[in-house]
Amino acid sequence: MKKGGNAIDAAVAAGLTLGVVNGYNSGIGGGCFIVARLSNGRVITINGRETAPAKAHRDMYLRNGKPDTGLSQIGPLASGVPGALAAYAQLAKAHGKLPLRVHLETAATVAEKGFAIPAAYAGRIRATAKGLAKFPASGALLLKADGAPKIAGELLKQPDLARTYRAIAKEGTGWFYGGPFARKTELWMKDNGGILAAQDFTNYKTTSPPPVRTTYRGHTILGMQPPSSGGVHVAQILNILEHFDLAKMDSDSADFYHVITEAMKLAFADRAHWLGDPAFAKVPRGLVDKAYAKQLAARIRMDRATPVKTHGTPPRSTDDLYSKHTTHFSCADGEGNWVAITATVNTSFGSKVIIPGTGVIMNNEMDDFSIAPGVPNAFGLLGAEANAVTAGKRPLSSMSPTIVLKDGKPILAVGAAGGPTIITQTLLAIIHTIDYGRPLKEALAQPHFHHQWAPDQIRIEKKVGEKVLAELRRRGHALKVYNRMGATQAVSLRDGKFEAAHDPRLRGKAVAY
Ligand code: GLY
Repeated sequence: MKKGGNAIDAAVAAGLTLGVVNGYNSGIGGGCFIVARLSNGRVITINGRETAPAKAHRDMYLRNGKPDTGLSQIGPLASGVPGALAAYAQLAKAHGKLPLRVHLETAATVAEKGFAIPAAYAGRIRATAKGLAKFPASGALLLKADGAPKIAGELLKQPDLARTYRAIAKEGTGWFYGGPFARKTELWMKDNGGILAAQDFTNYKTTSPPPVRTTYRGHTILGMQPPSSGGVHVAQILNILEHFDLAKMDSDSADFYHVITEAMKLAFADRAHWLGDPAFAKVPRGLVDKAYAKQLAARIRMDRATPVKTHGTPPRSTDDLYSKHTTHFSCADGEGNWVAITATVNTSFGSKVIIPGTGVIMNNEMDDFSIAPGVPNAFGLLGAEANAVTAGKRPLSSMSPTIVLKDGKPILAVGAAGGPTIITQTLLAIIHTIDYGRPLKEALAQPHFHHQWAPDQIRIEKKVGEKVLAELRRRGHALKVYNRMGATQAVSLRDGKFEAAHDPRLRGKAVAY
């Protein structure tokens, strides 16, 4: 921004640099969703989600009739066509002030100079070392000569990635989509049993659907359309919760945790049935209908957990449809540009594949499809026909970049990392901001909890306290207690001043000036 850029430039610079310093979470080998509110008041979205290659098909992960999640999670068959670079380029070109080249070159310099591996990064290398060792370019970058994982404090230089960034800066994104990168990837895939082809890169297109829009206690909530499930379900859960006076409940009380959990459960039951890429599946807009939310709210009892056997049926469910380990960052500026971007290669280091000579870590987003009925993905999520693998289709995502308006003016850009808990973390940040008027730092420090319908249990942070945990158990909830989970990042405007906050669960820094 000091170079004359706006919040859009800041966001693109952050996205490209995160691909260098935080490549286990996101990068140009992955995808992203962008929700932005521009200084002229227009709200835009960019869907840079990966797509399934043309040769992908429903049974591609079955071996001897049995689903093999090893194939959708690691190696050549795990990757969809990456979309993050196309999305960043589109955003920068249409709404930024600086050329994409500047951001690529700055990030390339970081890759060349290298950085001391932070403890969190070293932890991810350790956790995935076995998978990384299967792919020579990944092993060469992230493991030592004897095969042991590189450790915290070691200098990590990425000359191949720097060359890739500089080539894109010089030649344009065509170098990646259809040019040398795409051809190199096709060759590696062919040699290693993959199906991703150069033509898949040429065919890749972002989309820009209108945002999912709902209101919540006098605020406007703007999220991403499917294949994000976050936009729909943050809106749906807020619509359900409007029927309960949260502000009157103590946010430390069992009632607070109980009622939000019951709303999460109903929404995630719908997610498992209805959600998928709307270019292929019939995803009803009625999921965010206020009357439908009222029906669902009426099923919630305060004295006990209500079993949710199956999904609900929203209104107009056949004819009013949406047409066709992750990181989140939010940026805003004084001109009125606000950006929320969630980006991912899926689980740590994605497919674990680095295409040799390019430094690009390829995603394993194909695992976000439902690879067979009843087979949970890496996050334990179930899916149905709507999210089955099909060539050219985008896998369902939980990424939930969200912008909140009050009287038409942005007051919050928020999102999170952490698989399906992205949806519920984003929801909780909105509730703590709107219902309890908490300053941003305090809002992000509140306990995280999550219910995704299946398994029928609340994942909840220990700091909630034994008294509330005991009362939730008494009401019939099964609990899985965590020391900590998730990471939410946000920017807000409060009393005319920007506040920026990073999740206190992780080391980090957020700046407002
Ligand atoms: N890969 C995580 C998500 O998109 O939900």
